[in-house]
Amino acid sequence: MYIELRKLSVNERLEALVKAGIISQEQACVLGKDGPLSLEAASHMIENVVGTHSLPFALATNFVINGKDYMVPMAVEEPSVVAGACNAAKLSLPNGFVASADESIMIGQIQLVKLPDCTAAVAKILAVKQLLIERANACDPVLLKFGGGCRGVECREIDSPRGKMLVVHLLVDVRDAMGANAVNSMAESIAPELERITGGQARLRILSNLADKRLVRAKTVWTKQALEESTKGAMKGEEVVEAVLDAGAFAQADSYRAATHNKGIMNGVDAVVVATGNDWRAIEAGAHAFAARTGKYLPLTKYRKTAEGDLEGEIQLPVAVGLVGGATKTHPTAQIAVKILGVKTAQELAQVIASVGLAQNFAALRALATEGINRGHLKLHAHNLAIAAGAGGAKAEAIAAQMATEGKVSAARAKELLERT
Ligand code: MEV
Repeated sequence: MYIELRKLSVNERLEALVKAGIISQEQACVLGKDGPLSLEAASHMIENVVGTHSLPFALATNFVINGKDYMVPMAVEEPSVVAGACNAAKLSLPNGFVASADESIMIGQIQLVKLPDCTAAVAKILAVKQLLIERANACDPVLLKFGGGCRGVECREIDSPRGKMLVVHLLVDVRDAMGANAVNSMAESIAPELERITGGQARLRILSNLADKRLVRAKTVWTKQALEESTKGAMKGEEVVEAVLDAGAFAQADSYRAATHNKGIMNGVDAVVVATGNDWRAIEAGAHAFAARTGKYLPLTKYRKTAEGDLEGEIQLPVAVGLVGGATKTHPTAQIAVKILGVKTAQELAQVIASVGLAQNFAALRALATEGINRGHLKLHAHNLAIAAGAGGAKAEAIAAQMATEGKVSAARAKELLERT
């Protein structure tokens, strides 16, 4: 189902969503109100609450992922992010994105120090691996009921500035949770046992945000025809393909560029993570650690030219998000976001997030490699000013277009043009 949201007012958009059966009338009221998160609910989420802080909440359209249509909720303050995602997704149609996600395996780390013999400790731990798994599982029967649980134990000897340490990794399938609570509890519960077996001392017992066993991949092809049309004929499709390939190669070769390239990806990723009530700091930490996994900070996306001369883009990154627990359940907008998105599992949510990250990156590279980023920003800014001046629909578009052409983009000019129409 496709709803053209761009040209409607906020209230009309909410009405359209209710009419399409995507949200209920009550949910439309929650969204339409200033500040859906009550002070009461907020004060149960964190400490010392004195208010709430809101962000614009928008829906990105045109996303088809693994053959399914999605309206993607995004919470973000930066102009052009949502428009860029919608546009990149539109250019990928009719095929859209193909995405896949690993099982929801998180890593819990237990740091062991003061070991009499590190190598012997590894052998002792691995000899009782099954017992440790059972012990870890005993502390989360609910996770077990949902088919999750501890799947493995690994040992890593590391050289630290304070000498040799042994780090035990618990590999835990957390199903539809982000997993921090389950993994931390398991790590804490088996630490005394590890101390007893090895004669060492357990220090940190905490999950790792480098969730590299919970990777997600998304791919799409942008045809050269679609790319040419996107420039309104100003550039040949082949040229756009080459320009985006050059931009991708720049990020591969240069970490200064890779940081900005990945920031553009995270514009989209974080917006969906925030909208769905997930922990965006965890996602950020994981993404950047993964980008630097080879010792060099690299881009999270790759581009290549297909045999037909079209542009293929792909992304791979860890996405540790959940649909149960935390703000996903306590924040009213997050609950509505998940409902609108219509995802049933954490893996499906992760696939959407990866696809949006790829779309966002492509949108930035296409703009940078063709007209430059400012023109698009200026157009959007002009449109926002026209709306703020009181214009709506086609009138707002006409005023924005005129201001952009004149190169005079200001609130005063928008008002002036509106008064003249
Ligand atoms: C701005 O928020 C993001 C960009 O800088 C990303 C990029 O340069 O690829 C436009």
